Amino acid sequence: MQRDDHVCLCFRVSLGKVRAYLAREDPKVASLISECLGAGTGCGWCVPYLKHLHHQHTQGQTPDIPGSADDYEHGRTRFKATGSRDHPIDPEPNT
Ligand code: FES
Repeated sequence: MQRDDHVCLCFRVSLGKVRAYLAREDPKVASLISECLGAGTGCGWCVPYLKHLHHQHTQGQTPDIPGSADDYEHGRTRFKATGSRDHPIDPEPNT
């Protein structure tokens, strides 16, 4: 995913904005990312991804989401239609 791609599609919060929030605020829990323009407080699609980004931040890694913005957006469309995730992301890989 690129810096200007939206992680939270409901509130149009980009990966760059989430990265900046994590760097600036260093939130103790992922749910505090909601303070960044409401990220994660809409349909819920992005919540596992926000947890993933938060986990990467706590590990000293550059927060990132694998795959393209198109695939991400299509996954969210299916999620909204079916309520299920085709390829759930592991919020805390390698733990
Ligand atoms: S995509 Fe973030 S709450 Fe819907």
